[in-house]
Amino acid sequence: MRQIYLYIVFIIIGSSTVIASDKSTVLITGANRGLGLEFAKQYQARGYNVIGTARNTAKAVKLQALGVRVLQLDVTNQKSVDNLSAELKDTPLDILINNAGYFNRVDTSLDKVNFDILELTYAVNTLGPLRVTQALIDNLKLGKSKTVISISSGLSSISNSTGQWYAYRSSKTALNQINKIMSEEFKNKEFIFTVLSPGWVKTDMGGPNANYTPKQSISGMLKVIDSLTTEDSGKFYDLKGKTVDW
Ligand SMILES: NC(=O)c1ccc[n+]([C@@H]2O[C@H](COP(=O)([O-])OP(=O)(O)OC[C@H]3O[C@@H](n4cnc5c(N)ncnc54)[C@H](OP(=O)(O)O)[C@@H]3O)[C@@H](O)[C@H]2O)c1
Repeated sequence: MRQIYLYIVFIIIGSSTVIASDKSTVLITGANRGLGLEFAKQYQARGYNVIGTARNTAKAVKLQALGVRVLQLDVTNQKSVDNLSAELKDTPLDILINNAGYFNRVDTSLDKVNFDILELTYAVNTLGPLRVTQALIDNLKLGKSKTVISISSGLSSISNSTGQWYAYRSSKTALNQINKIMSEEFKNKEFIFTVLSPGWVKTDMGGPNANYTPKQSISGMLKVIDSLTTEDSGKFYDLKGKTVDW
């Protein structure tokens, strides 16, 4: 009887170990609210190992409640990024979602450009994804799908620009270029670097009048991410998989 019991325990532990190691791992920055939280929810529902980061982990109540792994990260702070990297050690990452973002609408005209806000916007939206990707590239090399998604914005498009918001628009335009540079560097190395536009979404950033709920936007983007191949590296798509003009 004891032998049978041990055998059953062995099978349960053995099989759960196999399942755990087969799971893909996704790391999402700025996962405590808005689109990042919805990314965490939907990836968790799909059975991924989800690592969600937050600037203040103690206040990340909704993220903690999902039962995912929550790690501290301020994307503007190199020490914080280094700590995250040290915490992860050699954990393989399949997907990195550079989602954390900042939008201050103060600079609607040249006289209202505020250089402190401009620098902060660049630090979060442009340098943040670069800093985090640089720190986690070895984890991504160990992952299966080697996919880096950076959340850009339709407002980054130069050809579609109607002016306003010097800091936000240009920070995301520069992010698009950084994504392209990374895609060229890692060409033929099985990596996918893609920028996505989530649409105008009802979050703290998007406000209540936006077109999409976080659920709709993330469901759309997950389908797009699922369909990506290395041919899509360096490209810019919206939540429906349509190419966005640079
Ligand atoms: N909502 C839209 O309509 C829309 C449209 C186009 C693009 N986007 C992009 O989509 C992404 C998510 O936007 P959202 O609507 O979910 O915005 P949100 O509701 O304002 O949430 C922003 C997230 O980014 C985090 N964050 C801000 N600064 C950070 C920093 N220095 N380090 C780490 N995390 C930081 C915030 O953390 P705290 O809670 O600590 O502040 C929060 O988790 C952003 O990149 C945004 O630019 C959004």
